[in-house]
Amino acid sequence: MGEGREAAVSHTLTCDRKEYVFCALVYVLPVVCRMTLLRYRLSRGLLIVFEGIDGSGKTTQVGLLNERLQRAGYDVVCLKEPTDGPWGQKLRQLAQHGRQQVSPVTELTWFLQDRREDVEHNIQPALARGQLVLLDRYYFSTIAYQGALQFDPEEIRARNEAFAPTPDLLFLLDVTPELGLQRVQKRGEPSHFERLDYLKQVAAIFATMQFPYLRRINTSAERTVVQEHIWQHVATLLASTIQAAPIAVQEDTA
Ligand code: TYD
Repeated sequence: MGEGREAAVSHTLTCDRKEYVFCALVYVLPVVCRMTLLRYRLSRGLLIVFEGIDGSGKTTQVGLLNERLQRAGYDVVCLKEPTDGPWGQKLRQLAQHGRQQVSPVTELTWFLQDRREDVEHNIQPALARGQLVLLDRYYFSTIAYQGALQFDPEEIRARNEAFAPTPDLLFLLDVTPELGLQRVQKRGEPSHFERLDYLKQVAAIFATMQFPYLRRINTSAERTVVQEHIWQHVATLLASTIQAAPIAVQEDTA
């Protein structure tokens, strides 16, 4: 009797173990294989930048793209400028409390210092690890925002490109300064960088930008529709530069 029960228990355990092994093989193994494959093939790293005036929806779109890429098995890092480092903190204070006696030259220097640290400590290492870097603001913001303080946009670009890698894709989210400011005001107190006359000058500089990797995105549609437009460009980039991409792209867009 006892032996019979033991045999039954042992049989159940063996079945459970079999099911477990079966589940591991059927469900887990393909996921692990696919992720390993994709990470292996992403060894070059990709830099995707989001730009636009305040209230253009960059942060929302970075979040949505990040979720989608992660679901497809990509190794993603999300970064943001100004950073949380010492220079970035100084810049946030400036945005909160006003420029006061900080001169435009000093402001530009702080943005460059902050970016140097970001490139050295975060961006370059992530790219070297083969990760997909999503960056919320980069040197195109400096060209537009500090360019609107009367610096030569072309010179700002050259100074940045001396140390900062150019992106594989740059999304410029288009919104009118009026609507952008309205959105920012709804979220709370706008910063000192967010005055309408200033934002109009910033938007005018963004409007003149022309780079082979630049994609202008109209943000007047619903945010999921905007995300779909962005995804189409990302999918094209992945398909043309990474052999593994079609697997992920087909699965996600099906
Ligand atoms: P923002 O992305 O709006 O940060 P947060 O959403 O945390 O408030 O950036 C803060 C401000 O900094 C924004 O108004 C744009 C400005 N800025 C520049 O003027 N030059 C730059 O190079 C960068 C990166 C940002």
